[in-house]
Amino acid sequence: MSTTVKIGLIGFGRIGKIHFNNIQQRIPEGEIIIVSDPVADFSGISVAVGSVDDVISHPDVEAVILCSPTDTHADYVEKAALSGKHIFCEKPLDLSLERIIRTLELVDETGVKLMLGFNRRFDANFLKIKNLVNNGDIGEPQLVKVTSRDPGPPPLSYLKESGGMFLDMTIHDFDMARYIMGKEVKQVYASAAVFWGEEIKAAEDIDTAVITLKFEDDSMAVIDNSRKAVYGYDQRLEVFGSKGMVNVDNNKPDNHFFYNEKGVHSALPLHFFLERYTESYLSEMREFISALQNDKPVSVGGEDALKATLIALAAKKSVQENRPVTIEEIKESLGISI
Ligand SMILES: NC(=O)c1ccc[n+]([C@@H]2O[C@H](COP(=O)([O-])OP(=O)(O)OC[C@H]3O[C@@H](n4cnc5c(N)ncnc54)[C@H](O)[C@@H]3O)[C@@H](O)[C@H]2O)c1
Repeated sequence: MSTTVKIGLIGFGRIGKIHFNNIQQRIPEGEIIIVSDPVADFSGISVAVGSVDDVISHPDVEAVILCSPTDTHADYVEKAALSGKHIFCEKPLDLSLERIIRTLELVDETGVKLMLGFNRRFDANFLKIKNLVNNGDIGEPQLVKVTSRDPGPPPLSYLKESGGMFLDMTIHDFDMARYIMGKEVKQVYASAAVFWGEEIKAAEDIDTAVITLKFEDDSMAVIDNSRKAVYGYDQRLEVFGSKGMVNVDNNKPDNHFFYNEKGVHSALPLHFFLERYTESYLSEMREFISALQNDKPVSVGGEDALKATLIALAAKKSVQENRPVTIEEIKESLGISI
């Protein structure tokens, strides 16, 4: 690996631009040398532009970052792995468990590193909770509460290709629950509704859900989701245990409280993921590039993608059939043993 890791970026939309700017401006150990996107505006970008194949087969590219739409991820991960390139792939890896398994087998065979974009693991608030839980400060963790609400739903075009709320949005929360507890989920019970209109119904999706997860040792998680919170991006986490409780509130642009005869007022939460998780995107990318330079394992990879997808599929089935669904049942229905 060269001193500066040479990188190709595929997909220059919302998240692609975040990774691009972080690497070019804030991570001197990495350098993006080529980008690909069929429609993006590259004016002002001083790196090569080419097709997906140009990026993956570029002789100087050591790693690729995949930020194209979800339905391209597995194909591009496989192509990149076969070309011997290390991979950072945005979540989710794919919507089909069978495809994820096939893709991960291929990645294993080629020996390249694969990191998944579960960026919230790198957020300072959630890391603080993770460390307190790991140190035993709250005793045996019994309950996790994840509040995860977006300020507004994405456009219909995105919704249609997203795989639905559980696989697209809640997948972060499923990963967070597993990560914080350090345990595997055995059962999922989910209830869902549509409150925010025809586009979401047209995409056969949902916009509001409550999901309960039961872990192997009967500890639990409750996740509540909405695609539209009128006050902005609501990202809170709480863990309750035998010796105490820890929680984190939303991040705001400032900390002021204004008191008057009507009440106490403060700023709204940071508006959406680009603002709220800015530093976590930087930290995850620093870890990826450092893992390549030092030949170290990445901390979040294919197995995490697979486990979160299993939970999402169980949640989908739970809503459809209005009953608790075990992870074992999902594995059996797909004939897989992992
Ligand atoms: N980790 C996170 O917080 C996070 C946040 C947002 C999106 N994502 C994930 O990132 C992916 C992209 O999401 P987004 O919000 O940036 O979408 P987006 O629509 O803003 O950007 C996607 C870009 O990919 C381009 N594209 C389309 N087909 C392509 C192809 N075949 N090859 C190369 N580029 C192609 C599009 O032109 C577009 O510019 C999705 O899988 C999404 O789930 C992750």
